[in-house]
Amino acid sequence: MSKSLDSTRSSKQLSSDMNWKENIVYEIYVRSFNDSDGDGIGDLPGIMEKVDYIADLGVTAVWLSPIFDSPNRDYGYDVVDYRKIHPEYGTMEDFENLIQALHDRQIRLIMEIVPNHTSSDHPWFQESLKSKSSPYRDYYIWRAGDEKGNPPNNWTSFLGDSSWEKDEETGEYYLHTYAKHQPDLNWENPKVRQEIAQAMEFWLEKGTDGFRVDTANVLSKDMSFPDTEDTERIQGSGEPFYKNGPRIHEYLREMHDSVFSKYPIFTMGEASQVELEDVEKYTLPNRGELDLILMIEASKICDESNDMWQSKPWELSHLKDIMRKWLKDLHNEAWIGMYLSNHDHVRMVSYLGDDEQYREQSAKMLAVFLMTLRGTPNLLQGEELGMTNAHFFNSIDDIKEQQALAYYHLMVDERGEDPETILRRVLHKNRDHSRTPMQWNDEEGAGFTTGKPWQRINPNREEINAKQQEEDPNSVLDLYRRMIALRREHPVMTLGTYEPILDDHEHIYAYFRENEQERWLVVLNFSRTATVFEYSSDIAAELRHAECIVCSDEWNIDDLNEGQSKLQPYAYYVFRIKEN
Ligand code: NOJ
Repeated sequence: MSKSLDSTRSSKQLSSDMNWKENIVYEIYVRSFNDSDGDGIGDLPGIMEKVDYIADLGVTAVWLSPIFDSPNRDYGYDVVDYRKIHPEYGTMEDFENLIQALHDRQIRLIMEIVPNHTSSDHPWFQESLKSKSSPYRDYYIWRAGDEKGNPPNNWTSFLGDSSWEKDEETGEYYLHTYAKHQPDLNWENPKVRQEIAQAMEFWLEKGTDGFRVDTANVLSKDMSFPDTEDTERIQGSGEPFYKNGPRIHEYLREMHDSVFSKYPIFTMGEASQVELEDVEKYTLPNRGELDLILMIEASKICDESNDMWQSKPWELSHLKDIMRKWLKDLHNEAWIGMYLSNHDHVRMVSYLGDDEQYREQSAKMLAVFLMTLRGTPNLLQGEELGMTNAHFFNSIDDIKEQQALAYYHLMVDERGEDPETILRRVLHKNRDHSRTPMQWNDEEGAGFTTGKPWQRINPNREEINAKQQEEDPNSVLDLYRRMIALRREHPVMTLGTYEPILDDHEHIYAYFRENEQERWLVVLNFSRTATVFEYSSDIAAELRHAECIVCSDEWNIDDLNEGQSKLQPYAYYVFRIKEN
């Protein structure tokens, strides 16, 4: 697939000399980004007010969380109309103005598409409910229960209840992989596939530059719906029967051939439970499916496998193993998108870094990490400021997102578990941590809103905000801007090989990045204690010809004679190795 990104639609000015893989994507969780009309909810005109901020950051693409009309039980991942913008986010004109403003600044707009499920309020589902003979019945997955009145099988949804909900009128059950108000579409039905293809074309004709395809690898199910033996698992126990299912590659190829291939776009598939060979199948260019798979594994590094709400401590060796797999072992032509934080996880500085004593330093070290990894990086709004988790959440009423609320309800109300223990788990991990409003300044509404924000603003807005960091030449924001610029100037950061060293070191994470023109060495201290970096003779020889391009502390070349350097907590060094 050869793709040029200079669109002939409304985006004529986009430059085409950049390999699409070199995009640096900024995730905007629209609801929490910037509110232009004081209703406490971020909106499209609010993004418009910040396009220069986005351009100054240097990113080449923004990915918008879903802006479709929706009852918002899952904030847009429950769509009622794939072609209508939710009135609280603005109008179609606002959208068109925004895309133009972004394109004028050479920034692409990636939209979300949610192909696996709709809202139960969607007119298709409402029609489907009416009778077994409704022409829309087959848009969803309906099955009879067994003779004893049990659901068609024992799968649990990602919210922990049964994956099947009974409709009393017709006596049948419909499948919902996520919440019961998010019924799964039946991808076996060609009309469904056509509807989604047409919805995507609608946005592409408006100049959209690509999609993040939600839950891209769950569209094809084992239609015999066997019971799972994994009865210990609380959420998503039927996963083996619908992740990377029997017809998934056929569906994605069809999407590619009928839609994606006709436009100069790139597509990012959200997929968990994927192995190397799956990602290769999804993304090898000659297969014509998706352009990249978003690599979720690092963000789930603390999750217990049977219950994602229970955490385990993470280890650097595990993070290194994950990265080795996706950055080194993956086929050279297959491709991944890298993120550490997104709207579904806690914030990266609060789990891989130290958001108390070393917040600023660890946020910077993680900025260097994300921006020097192979792949297409995605950063979440606020990550460029080192925004933290919402440690101020203290009651279940602070939580707005459905998965955490469903877990609390399941464990406390249905299983009778200790409310304090469950509350602690939920407060620790919920998705609202990454969805608190953007901290633009230190005022009460954080510059996000003049009204009552839909989600509480982090009181640390007083110390962590964009205005203050704009004025500080040593801020996290400034480092992000420098790292993004560096990455854009040096394609080796995106496309070069990744060669990790010091695999067994418990604190230092170090790797070479190399292409035909350049060789770089990145050295990071992933710990809150100072640690010693011992040079092997090979590394010392290379460093004699190195220039430290981005360093947390001054690099002392004399250390090479000593054979070691002391790295301060969360130190970072990016060396460019010069030719002998
Ligand atoms: C993944 C999305 O990122 C998440 O926010 C959503 O709840 C689920 N898919 C279901 O659409």
